[in-house]
Amino acid sequence: MAFDLSDRTVLVVGGAGYVGSVMVPLLLDAGASVRVLDQFVYDNGFSLAPVLDDPRVALHRGDLRDAAVFAEAARGATDVVMLASLVGDPVCKKYPELAQQVNADATKAIIDSLDGLGVQRFVFTSTCSNYGIHDSATLADEESELNPQSLYARTKIEVEEHLLKSAASTDASMTVLRIATAYGLSPRMRFDLTVSQFAWEIASGQDLLVFDADTWRPYCHIRDISKAVMTVLTAAPEKVRGEVFNVGDTTQCFTKRMIVEEVQKHVPDAVVSYREGDTDPRNYRVSFAKITERLGFTVDHTVQDYLAQLTTAVQAGVFPDVAGSTRYGNYEVRHLEPRT
Ligand SMILES: NC(=O)c1ccc[n+]([C@@H]2O[C@H](COP(=O)([O-])OP(=O)(O)OC[C@H]3O[C@@H](n4cnc5c(N)ncnc54)[C@H](O)[C@@H]3O)[C@@H](O)[C@H]2O)c1
Repeated sequence: MAFDLSDRTVLVVGGAGYVGSVMVPLLLDAGASVRVLDQFVYDNGFSLAPVLDDPRVALHRGDLRDAAVFAEAARGATDVVMLASLVGDPVCKKYPELAQQVNADATKAIIDSLDGLGVQRFVFTSTCSNYGIHDSATLADEESELNPQSLYARTKIEVEEHLLKSAASTDASMTVLRIATAYGLSPRMRFDLTVSQFAWEIASGQDLLVFDADTWRPYCHIRDISKAVMTVLTAAPEKVRGEVFNVGDTTQCFTKRMIVEEVQKHVPDAVVSYREGDTDPRNYRVSFAKITERLGFTVDHTVQDYLAQLTTAVQAGVFPDVAGSTRYGNYEVRHLEPRT
């Protein structure tokens, strides 16, 4: 599907991150002008280097908790895509105060500030982690009860509820995307996400220890996540205003063991051991029927293809310095302090 965003100016908050640094070039390909607001929390600004010489790109380094910084970046934008937050259970657990301030309080304040800014669409990226533990004999859909197992998911749910409450009375058409766990190659790689972590550890010759191998999770490529965002940005507003969509594909739900077995097809001598009883009990399979039926969205990528690409890249030495580096994941916040 080709998108035409040539009359749009899209502000991507968190555009230097794992998803954002793939989404920004795709928005440019679709003809959009793009603003990026990002604080480079993990020293990750390098990810934007390939697009910074495009005259349609405007970069704002700043903290989204600062209302004036957001208002300045959003001035003249037709659309806002909200990617910035402390992403993932471990980083939220490590910095709980920051997670509450950035992910929940400041994001809700941004939603409250939209009227008067001229923003027509607002896309909030939430997570399928909100389903937490769900009977894996059935698929969780957008109506299923949420069962968060972490502060990360609780902050996302807090924003979802706030957004949905104000959706009818806000000028902008606002939409929630509950996204499956991401995979894919990005200028800002994250090796703290299941698929990439397993492939990197195995393909770089390490022994892999897998906890709770038979727990299910859905997965989605970062290019397909970008496609879902552009699908929402170009859909008829009445189809997306105040709506929640799961983003992914039902055929791309896997257990951790299934992912390991897929990696082993490329690295047959992998040393893998399994253990029960991790501190992450999440287990959910998800239905993606709504986004397909209502918006015609389908994915173009599969975990299987990606594992072939990533294992080849790791074995070729494309990522020589991952071990011990804080650059390739959300391990350590470098440029954000809690506010009193
Ligand atoms: N990666 C996944 O598996 C996944 C799965 C489901 C949903 N999502 C959602 O997609 C979005 C993007 O995830 P990602 O993997 O790209 O995360 P990421 O951590 O790579 O990117 C987040 C970006 O936000 C920026 N940021 C954080 N706090 C900020 C602040 N206070 N002010 C300005 N910038 C700030 C960071 O510098 C970073 O560039 C998030 O909303 C996440 O919840 C991601």
